[in-house]
Parts: sequence; structure tokens; C-alpha cells
Amino acid sequence: MMEVSEAIRNRKSVRRFSDAKVSDAAIKELLELAAQAPSAGNTQEWRFVVVRERETKQRLSEAYMIGRKYQLEAPVIIVVCADMEAIGDAYGERGKSLYAFQDTAAAVENMLLAAAGMGLATCWLGAFNEQAVRNALAIPERIRPVAMITLGYAGENIAKNMRKPLAEAAFSEIYGNPFK
Ligand SMILES: Cc1cc2nc3c(=O)[nH]c(=O)nc-3n(C[C@H](O)[C@H](O)[C@H](O)COP(=O)(O)O)c2cc1C
Repeated sequence: MMEVSEAIRNRKSVRRFSDAKVSDAAIKELLELAAQAPSAGNTQEWRFVVVRERETKQRLSEAYMIGRKYQLEAPVIIVVCADMEAIGDAYGERGKSLYAFQDTAAAVENMLLAAAGMGLATCWLGAFNEQAVRNALAIPERIRPVAMITLGYAGENIAKNMRKPLAEAAFSEIYGNPFK
């Protein structure tokens, strides 16, 4: 396992995967690490559907809205969902429109970083037809699929996308005041 900062810097979106299988133990570890994320009031409303069968991946690829269908040929796809009933009304509109997705995004990022630390490649996919994903996996109405994570060993070696200079995103004391 590499240092957290190294895993963060190494992580990048990989869109082509090799045929190498991901062990069930590795998948279980990733799910356990995903669930270590913080969540509003410890709701833990993330739900994960692990897809490994070819026919199921095919159904997910039909729900994917970008032309690169090969992305869904990854050995594993983890569909991350938010249980909107679990977040409930405790936090009002903010819970339903913000916390539910922040909580699940935190779980996703944990998973991506843990995978990077284990030498695995991932890509976070958001461009899909939600109802088509629901239909493909028999996901109940109260559950919103929010991300599909393709997982495997890299089948391409691409450079990581550049980051903008920190000065564009970070300020000191007052918004707009350059961070030094
Ligand atoms: C909410 C979200 C949705 C995304 N959806 C897609 C997607 O549908 N297809 C895809 O190939 N990449 C998708 N990505 C990956 C981004 O394109 C990628 O993270 C970004 O270009 C930065 O590159 P990096 O991950 O290699 O650092 C998504 C990322 C996020 C956070």
C-alpha cells in the first residue's frame, strides 16, 4: 500500500482495461474502504451494486450516454447509489439535494484512492440514463444510482489531466484574495 498522498497524486481516470481479473478480496476491501467515508449524521446511505457478468455490463453500456462503450468492458463495474429513503427528511431539502450526493461522492473518492493505492485503475462515470441503470440492475425507485465506477488493471498508459494553478481555486481570508 502506498502513502495516501502518493495514491492521491497517482490516481487518474483510466478508460481502457486489460483482461486481468480483479480478485473478490480486492473488491471487498474497496467496498469496506468506501464505507469508511464520512456521511451526514453518519447516515451511510451509500449502496453498491458490483457487476462482473458480461450481460449485465452490456445492459449498463446501453445506459451509458457517451460513445465510448468499451469503457464498460472493464472487469468490474461498481454502481454507487444513494438511498433517498435512508437520508429521509432529517436534514430537509439540504439532505436530499446535497448531503445524499456528498456522502456518496465521498465514498466514491475513497474507493478511487484505495484502488490507486492497490495498483488498480478506475474511472468515475456519471453520464448515464438513471432509469436505464435502475432497470438493468432491478434497483428500486427510492434508490438513485449516482455513479458507475469502472475497475480493473490499466490497459492504456495515459498522462494524467493537468490541474489548474492553485491560485485559480484557493484564496486567503476573503474570496478572491490570492492565497500565499
Ligand atoms: C461527477 C463525475 C462524472 C464523470 N463522468 C464521466 C463519464 O461519464 N465518463 C468519463 O469517461 N469520465 C467521467 N468522469 C471523469 C472525469 O472526466 C475526470 O475525472 C477528469 O477529466 C479529470 O481527470 P482525472 O480523473 O484523470 O484526474 C467523471 C468525473 C466525475 C467527478
